[in-house]
Amino acid sequence: MRYRTLTQFLIERERAGRISPDLRLLIETIARACKAISTRVNKGPFGGGYGLAGSENVQGEIQKKLDVLSNEILLEANEWGGNLAALVSEEMEDPRPIPTHYPRGQYLLLFDPLDGSSNIDVNISVGTIFSVLRCPTAPDGTPHEPDEKAFLQPGRNQVAAGFAVYGPTTVLVVTVGDGAWGFTLDRETYTFALTHPDIRIPADTAEFAINASNMRRWEPPVKRYIDECLAGKDGPRGKDFNMRWVASMVADVYRVLSRGGIFMYPRDAKNREGRLRLMYEANPMAFIVEQAGGMATDGSRRILDIQPTSLHQRVGVVLGSKNEVERVAAYHAA
Ligand code: AHG
Ligand code: MN
Ligand code: MN
Repeated sequence: MRYRTLTQFLIERERAGRISPDLRLLIETIARACKAISTRVNKGPFGGGYGLAGSENVQGEIQKKLDVLSNEILLEANEWGGNLAALVSEEMEDPRPIPTHYPRGQYLLLFDPLDGSSNIDVNISVGTIFSVLRCPTAPDGTPHEPDEKAFLQPGRNQVAAGFAVYGPTTVLVVTVGDGAWGFTLDRETYTFALTHPDIRIPADTAEFAINASNMRRWEPPVKRYIDECLAGKDGPRGKDFNMRWVASMVADVYRVLSRGGIFMYPRDAKNREGRLRLMYEANPMAFIVEQAGGMATDGSRRILDIQPTSLHQRVGVVLGSKNEVERVAAYHAA
């Protein structure tokens, strides 16, 4: 079977007028960086990538060597291409404008260079998440200075989003607003091949993902929803549920895209704003999930409609199969 490549897929969209040549090149560049990160991740202990970097990021989280390396790979790949105005990363406090000796483009890139980094040293899937916004312009067309304010746009403004998961295979899921498309890295030709066209998340599911160690801190609607799942056949839902939790959002969301399910990292008494980051975790994943027919909410608001107030803000996340996410939202509304 001959698969279409990511390059073909993007050129078709450019011809159809759905994406600009610059956006196509930007996505190609990100994909190339993901291949490089995938290779580093695959080296395991041999590439010198295991262990701690000896530093903390802006959120006060301990950085792994691979967090820092992946961040550098993405920065280096994206700085000179001429399609970006600035970048934001989980690993950097402030936006990084494109150095003045390179041409400046019209897009803003946000990323989580390595998601699930607590799983690196234990050989469990990790990944990269990215989101693309347009740099705002003044009414006369001059581009806005790509400062923090330029980035603070709701997720519905995203022009593209995606994530790579470095698992038994490396898969890249991309959306440019016409569905969610999955590409597997063919390690013989080193190309991304379209193996999962137009992904659809089933509306119903019997599988949930949540870190149950936070149970005592959950809000009542979350507690009610999970209690009902756990009650199974004998409870109000009248069916048994299964539970999965990888602790790498990329892997958990990829499973939801593959066979349905609900993924939750809700606000709780400890993580009052939630645990996941709005701009480079929740927004891109919400865009992809909606494009695949699913739903994403923080409990009360559609994630993509939240007006961000800071670059690294956190948010509660409930996403996946539509009917289940709707139920959780209804429990919050009640
Ligand atoms: P990151 O490694 O980029 O900081 O993100 C980790 C996130 C996410 O991938 C995952 O869903 C969650 O943290 C896991 O949290 P717990 O350790 O609380 O389960
Ligand atoms: Mn992450
Ligand atoms: Mn990360």
